[in-house]
Amino acid sequence: MMNRVARIRGTGAYLPEKVLTNQDLEQMVDTSDEWIFTRTGMKERRLAGPDEFTSGMGAKAALAAIEDSGLTVDEIDFILVATLTPDYIFPSTACLIQQLLGAKKAASLDIQAACTGYLYALSLAKSFIESGAYRHILVVAAEKLSSITNYKDRSTCVLFGDGASACVVSSEGEGLAIQSVRLGSDGEQAELLIQPAGGCRLPASAETVAGDQHYIKMAGNEVFKHAVRRMESACKECIDAAQIDELDISWVVPHQANIRIIDAIAKRFKHLSPERVYKTVQKYGNTSASSVGIALHELRKEQSLQEGERILLTAFGAGLTWGAALLQAQR
Ligand code: UT7
Repeated sequence: MMNRVARIRGTGAYLPEKVLTNQDLEQMVDTSDEWIFTRTGMKERRLAGPDEFTSGMGAKAALAAIEDSGLTVDEIDFILVATLTPDYIFPSTACLIQQLLGAKKAASLDIQAACTGYLYALSLAKSFIESGAYRHILVVAAEKLSSITNYKDRSTCVLFGDGASACVVSSEGEGLAIQSVRLGSDGEQAELLIQPAGGCRLPASAETVAGDQHYIKMAGNEVFKHAVRRMESACKECIDAAQIDELDISWVVPHQANIRIIDAIAKRFKHLSPERVYKTVQKYGNTSASSVGIALHELRKEQSLQEGERILLTAFGAGLTWGAALLQAQR
């Protein structure tokens, strides 16, 4: 059998125009720029407009990624969308994006792995490509987190932003080869980070709305500890699986949940200077599934990656879920 290598041959991102600053949040809840910046590293995040939805933001990021890949929409044969803020529970946001793009040949599927969604989608795309089932897969991660954020709860509302990212994973062409992916989950901790109502356990009712149960609830401290531990071990497993050394990594692109989590991960990579741990958290906050893809796209645009350079992505989120993926620039 032919030895196929899945590679990311195009990336894209979309951030809505409206900026929500720490100063804006000071007017909304009992918080301060100083608290938010020192505890999270965040200064600003973006907010989608009232007529802007996950599907539309995802489609914009997707078009940018397809253009960057040099392919056409007609060549996409599968669309994978990672989101925890779908336009509807059903039909899938992937189908809505398929329609917006006019990607007539593509099958479409949503996946839900919260903030780790981009990495779960990459892992599926890699398997589909390497098995020969598909040739050009569009991975989209898009979130309108502002639609499930409680802007009266200071412990969560300062953290989240809206945005989308995308990439095209192909069996051919220049790009970033996906060398190894490691994923994990722990449903024991499901309630640490949850949107309690709106599913079949607690369907929407006047009571669930009155009780703010359609918003994100998070035990921040607990989640923080798991995030550091799980991302560290996913990175190690991913590096071991690729049979390389930490010294072979040029860039680390972590989930952008909190600068203190990012710094804790960075400490693990002793030879890497802090600038090589890529950050967007200060300007976009936590955009859940989209965050790693937005950061990867911006890194590719800012830096000209040399042949052979390796990038390690890592993410963590509700579920709990976590993962890491190792990419290598190849011509
Ligand atoms: O994307 C999925 C993964 N998500 C994450 O990984 C997020 C992980 N968690 C975190 O990033 C942090 O836990 C937070 C940023 C959410 C919170 O930071 P913390 O250092 O863990 O603060 P804390 O929850 O322990 O709260 C410390 C204090 C509390 O006051 P008391 O009880 O000490 O009087 C909070 O009420 O800070 C208070 N506080 C705030 N004060 C001002 C909480 N939120 C705010 C706020 N402004 N926005």
